[in-house]
Amino acid sequence: MSEQDQHLAVIGLGYVGLPLAVALAELGRTVTGLDIDQKKVASLNRGSSHIPDVPGEAVRRVVEAGRFAATTDAEALRTPDAIFICVPSPFDANRAPDLSYIRSAAQSVQPRLRKGHLIVLESTTYPGTTEEILQPMLESTGLRAGVDFDLAFVPERIDPGQVESKGWTIKNTPKVVGALTPQGARRAAALLENTFRSVNIALVNELALLCERMGIDVWEVIGAAATKPYGFMPFRPGPGVGGHCIPVDPLYLSWKAREFDFHTNFIDLAAQVNDDMPYHVVDLIVRGLSKQGRALDGASVLVLGVAFKRDIDDARNSPAERVMELLMARGAAVCYHDPHVPEFHVGGNVFHRKRERLASIPLTDDAVSSADCIVVVTGHSAVDYRRVAGRARLLVDTCNAVPRDARTRAKVVRLGAS
Ligand SMILES: NC(=O)c1ccc[n+]([C@@H]2O[C@H](COP(=O)([O-])OP(=O)(O)OC[C@H]3O[C@@H](n4cnc5c(N)ncnc54)[C@H](O)[C@@H]3O)[C@@H](O)[C@H]2O)c1
Repeated sequence: MSEQDQHLAVIGLGYVGLPLAVALAELGRTVTGLDIDQKKVASLNRGSSHIPDVPGEAVRRVVEAGRFAATTDAEALRTPDAIFICVPSPFDANRAPDLSYIRSAAQSVQPRLRKGHLIVLESTTYPGTTEEILQPMLESTGLRAGVDFDLAFVPERIDPGQVESKGWTIKNTPKVVGALTPQGARRAAALLENTFRSVNIALVNELALLCERMGIDVWEVIGAAATKPYGFMPFRPGPGVGGHCIPVDPLYLSWKAREFDFHTNFIDLAAQVNDDMPYHVVDLIVRGLSKQGRALDGASVLVLGVAFKRDIDDARNSPAERVMELLMARGAAVCYHDPHVPEFHVGGNVFHRKRERLASIPLTDDAVSSADCIVVVTGHSAVDYRRVAGRARLLVDTCNAVPRDARTRAKVVRLGAS
């Protein structure tokens, strides 16, 4: 069979699975996408996309060419030659790995596994998942990995929201492959990459707090350091880390390390510093309000940006969630505006008991000028920060989004600067 004739399946059509499925279909393979979400499946088959980095036009082309079809029926896994598992790998309420999605995807494969199949785990997870969880589940069918079917771990590297600006797409980003061979050590690669980011962000977050105490502007410090053409990689402080990777993957590694009596001090310290940042943001708001003679209790706070990163629509594990919960728990009336996230859920946990579903409000002049405080959590480029600065009564900027020369109605409280 030529590569072009290959029939492939992707389980989980989210931020990782859909770009992969469409890229494979564009390469001429026939791709079946399996997802448990009926709505996503129906809209994909109509040729539209729910992932901003995958144009609807690209989905429509591969659907119309008969190269891609989505389904909720796991029976569709019988025919493909290779199956890519791209389901979520979050942590649970106690920050332990939640492998339930990977197990359930493996259960869909189990009764359809056959000789010659290649099963590839793309979800990011701790080293050992492939051999300790996936392999035994698949071998319970009587077929043997490495003999009857192949099993590999290829952690995804995708940088949402950066596809257009930086040009790194699924097609030109190198990937690390670990199969059931001596390449096992490479499996830690994805976790190392995200741990690297988590630790460096924590370092710069800590420096931001120090700069505030010392009356130094951390953003100027980073800008100056970044003029060094070698040996320095700029990381920027912010309200905390979010998303599916940086706050999660290092904890998968540190959880696994404990099995070996090993304490990953850097990972744990980085998580602690990064987790403290939303509390610091609330502190900045409280201080800013009290300078104006106001208390947080009863104040109205408008949060600008709830996605976990600039210019994307993904709000999973966003630091905005904790900031808003802490504000609500202390009596503030909280609303938000995010041009990419129409709806946002907060609470239902120990930080704020009540589970609340909020809708993004329009960023009208009135909404800006009537809020007691505006806090920029995510600096989306679609927001006009000059307009906001000119009308806000108090503006707390956690990500240096407000231009330095903006005309302001009140002083801007900038995280990492005095
Ligand atoms: N989003 C990123 O930027 C990114 C980057 C690199 C790696 N990863 C990793 O890739 C994996 C997937 O992340 P994502 O962001 O694509 O998640 P996602 O939530 O966007 O997509 C996952 C999809 O899987 C579906 N799903 C869940 N259980 C299923 C099952 N049993 N059968 C079929 N479909 C199922 C969901 O409905 C959803 O559509 C995670 O392990 C994540 O850590 C994500």
